[in-house]
Amino acid sequence: MSGRVEGKVAFITGAARGQGRSHAVRLAQEGADVIAIDVCKAVGGSEGIPPATPEDLAETADLVKGLGRRIVTAEVDVRDLEALQSAVDSGVEQLGRLDIIVANAGIGLGGATLDQTSEEDWDAVIDINLSGVWKSVKAVVPHLLSGGHGGSIILTSSVGGLKALANTGHYIAAKHGVVGLMRTFAVELGEHSIRVNSVHPTNCNTPMFMNESTMKMFRPDLENPGPEDLVAPARLMHILPVGWVEAVDISNAVLFLASDESRYITGLPMTVDAGSTLK
Ligand SMILES: NC(=O)c1ccc[n+]([C@@H]2O[C@H](COP(=O)([O-])OP(=O)(O)OC[C@H]3O[C@@H](n4cnc5c(N)ncnc54)[C@H](O)[C@@H]3O)[C@@H](O)[C@H]2O)c1
Repeated sequence: MSGRVEGKVAFITGAARGQGRSHAVRLAQEGADVIAIDVCKAVGGSEGIPPATPEDLAETADLVKGLGRRIVTAEVDVRDLEALQSAVDSGVEQLGRLDIIVANAGIGLGGATLDQTSEEDWDAVIDINLSGVWKSVKAVVPHLLSGGHGGSIILTSSVGGLKALANTGHYIAAKHGVVGLMRTFAVELGEHSIRVNSVHPTNCNTPMFMNESTMKMFRPDLENPGPEDLVAPARLMHILPVGWVEAVDISNAVLFLASDESRYITGLPMTVDAGSTLK
């Protein structure tokens, strides 16, 4: 099947790399044009993970253009509502409409129990992973309403938005909060045929998961753990026999929720988790 989102325009946050880039490519493959934003630098103390760069965002743009679709990019921090609004305004002006929002940008921080978490880390994760999602949606709602043809909003939460894991309580709280945002926006925007759903990935093969800090966290017994050392412990988190999923697996769920195939689905927390939430 092709053209599942033909003629639509998607706004994607955190699109320089990882899942955000994959969503841009997957939606473009099915006919969408894209407004892609990313902060493109280190934010919020996520030191263990190398930051995305302006070159990464440019590569996303090249990939989308290579598929014959149009793309508008901007370096924007999702904590900055005004900058979000001007990026969306400018993108809609250039591409003519807006239909799909994927609020995907986020940071992963871990390593401390909640009572030992620093105020700085708490604020960073809540500001980006929760308030940043609210601001990303707030910036686009006026365009969806004035467009008058409904829309699909997809918020990236996590398995950690549906169950608790130790030593990353700020992330768990923010991702649970995303479910609250999703449900409330769904209730408030439904009468305008705007659907709102969330996706809940398990470990996903992007820099946020596949990095030195994660490897050391999973394998404190090894001096220099590599990706292959993650396989066995990561598999224990799942029902299906895999340690992680690929970004395209999340993109396929996003594509379904973005397309009219899901036209009567709203308020759904959709897992892509190899059965993690069953455990
Ligand atoms: N990788 C995983 O295992 C996993 C699992 C569950 C959920 N998630 C969630 O999926 C989403 C995408 O993460 P990913 O796996 O692609 O990681 P990633 O680190 O590869 O990509 C995240 C992107 O978001 C951008 N970003 C971060 N803070 C930003 C800000 N303040 N403003 C704008 N852009 C910002 C980064 O620059 C980066 O390009 C995140 O919300 C993350 O919490 C990831």
